[in-house]
Amino acid sequence: MSLPDLTIRPRRLRRTPTLRRMVRETSLSVDDLIYPLFVDETISEPKPIASMPGVSRIPLSHVGKAVREVAAAGIPGVIFFGIPAKKDAIGSEAWNDEGIVQRAVRAAKDASPDTCVIADSCFCEYTDHGHCGVLHGEEVDNDATLENLQKEVVSYARSGVDIIAPSGMMDGMIGAIRTALDDNGFSHIPVMSYAVKYASGYFGPFRDAADSAPSFGDRSGYQMDPANRREAIKEAMIDINEGADMLMVKPGLAYMDIIAAVKEATDVPMAVYNVSGEYAMIKAAAEKGWIDERRVVLETMLGFKRAGADMILTYHAMDIARWLNND
Ligand code: PBG
Ligand code: ZN
Repeated sequence: MSLPDLTIRPRRLRRTPTLRRMVRETSLSVDDLIYPLFVDETISEPKPIASMPGVSRIPLSHVGKAVREVAAAGIPGVIFFGIPAKKDAIGSEAWNDEGIVQRAVRAAKDASPDTCVIADSCFCEYTDHGHCGVLHGEEVDNDATLENLQKEVVSYARSGVDIIAPSGMMDGMIGAIRTALDDNGFSHIPVMSYAVKYASGYFGPFRDAADSAPSFGDRSGYQMDPANRREAIKEAMIDINEGADMLMVKPGLAYMDIIAAVKEATDVPMAVYNVSGEYAMIKAAAEKGWIDERRVVLETMLGFKRAGADMILTYHAMDIARWLNND
């Protein structure tokens, strides 16, 4: 039997490792990574998170060491989530200058001044009902929450944070934050907006990690509907117009199309959050020996980069840094 003329043979460029290296379109570097840290005011020793093998809540006393390890791995940034000792209906611990995140930020900057310290800015870890703001009946009151968010971010800025990252999906949150920061002498502090955040089942393990599960209902009244794509562009544009310096898409894996669409539509650096449930799935399958953890993690990260991510928030960051640094 005769074959057609094969003039074009893509396999020619896949023949050797060197050729593959030369034509590779996307790369992953430790520079792309941001490592999430959970700081718990109620503990004195690290406390493993069952649904996130390899991740622990840490006490304030361990923050300096943790951040130095991140810096030694070459990872440029960390993002803090705080678990306060005291919760109330409005989440007032969030704007206490002596609160857990404020003290963690100071400890981190003392231990490693060059590490970029980001503060996740929301209220679900601070409210006794677990919703991302002040309640009015069973709904989160948008504008009342914005006023508290202004107090929270100014307090974080006073503690020395490098980037504010609001995750509550309140309307007008970027404008409110920008005004508050500028009015208080922090016009140099950038805002990384969780602009495109979906009401996702993939946040499950995080809610154990941060003790932030809503006590009733869910977050569909403020986070986005997973069915929507055009709305992602709308959310991204609103936040850029309000002054967001960087955007985030979250979660990552089930939203690769959204990452690509937001990248195409905008011109600011974009982060992707490889969330707790995505981490848990890989860890669980790897523990069972069903997948090769290193290979699957690196492939997943490359997927985020290929889709358009400039930065990746991931619980795999320390492992990735080890793998990349040893190659
Ligand atoms: C809080 C917040 C959440 C995550 C980051 N910030 C949880 C939520 O919205 O319920 C999720 C992170 C993860 O799952 O890894 N607003
Ligand atoms: Zn929240």
